[in-house]
Amino acid sequence: MNGMKLAVSIAGVELKNPIMPASGTFSAREFSKYIDVGRLGAIVTKGVAPVPWQGNPPPRCIETASGMLNAVGLQNPGVDSFIANDLPLLSVFKTRIIVNICGHSLGDYIDVTEKLREAPIDMLELNISCPNVAEGGMAFGTDRNMVERVVGEVKKRAAQPLIVKLSPNVTDICEIARAAESAGADALSLINTLLGMKIDIHKKRFALENKTGGLSGPAIKPIAVRMIYQVSRAVKLPLIGMGGVMTGEDAAELLMAGATAVAVGTASFHRLTALTDVLDELTAFLKNNNISDVNALREIII
Ligand SMILES: Cc1cc2nc3c(=O)[nH]c(=O)nc-3n(C[C@H](O)[C@H](O)[C@H](O)COP(=O)(O)O)c2cc1C
Repeated sequence: MNGMKLAVSIAGVELKNPIMPASGTFSAREFSKYIDVGRLGAIVTKGVAPVPWQGNPPPRCIETASGMLNAVGLQNPGVDSFIANDLPLLSVFKTRIIVNICGHSLGDYIDVTEKLREAPIDMLELNISCPNVAEGGMAFGTDRNMVERVVGEVKKRAAQPLIVKLSPNVTDICEIARAAESAGADALSLINTLLGMKIDIHKKRFALENKTGGLSGPAIKPIAVRMIYQVSRAVKLPLIGMGGVMTGEDAAELLMAGATAVAVGTASFHRLTALTDVLDELTAFLKNNNISDVNALREIII
């Protein structure tokens, strides 16, 4: 269809289309061998901490029915090395850059945010929802008062619009979403992984060295759809939806649930071209349904 509109806007930042990688599942340098990274709506980095983190000991990833468990534990080179070595390589791709930030403490989040003030990036994504780190991570994202405090302190120091990434490991995700909104978040992303466990009954031990891990992939998509729908009714902020998207039709489902953009994670491990395939399939879905603006999907289900 000529004149099809794929562009979306998140907190005043225009993306050429709504499809982007989910944090921690994508390296622009590696994936550029298989896909045209510049076609994506944005690049999203793995979590960046103030200092290098080793991550958890192996085994760190294991396949499960319709998904996977990971306990990578936010391995990263630290913000100084990220700015010096990784960021210059991302800028060549002619798309938006979203940097995911992680920490063990409020001070960690503040350090990274301040160091990124002058960096050539478009948005920050605050990961207060990682289930795989002992301190920080999910502990922040599951307590309404902590969410308000961390988001408020980071927002004060952020030079770029702030996306807050929500954990699904809570009783009431709308309460957490409202806390992030009232503390100044510019957008929300959801969902991070669900805390899970697998036991190898033959070896009689935990399948992951960390014992627990984050569940992702198609198994979690109905939970993502439900939470996106609920949160989209609870707050006014734009949402980036994620959780089990394998195809363009899955992306359309998250958009209809209320998301403005969609991230693709685990699918990229299964199929290296998943991101651009999802974009092409979503475009075909819109065309087949005579929808000329991707933003119209959000208005369909009320
Ligand atoms: C191996 C792996 C590493 C991840 N690392 C991060 C991370 O560093 N920061 C973050 O916010 N989310 C991280 N996530 C969560 C994903 O960004 C995403 O929220 C989740 O996997 C659900 O999407 P999916 O089902 O499409 O994978 C990671 C997920 C996986 C599978």
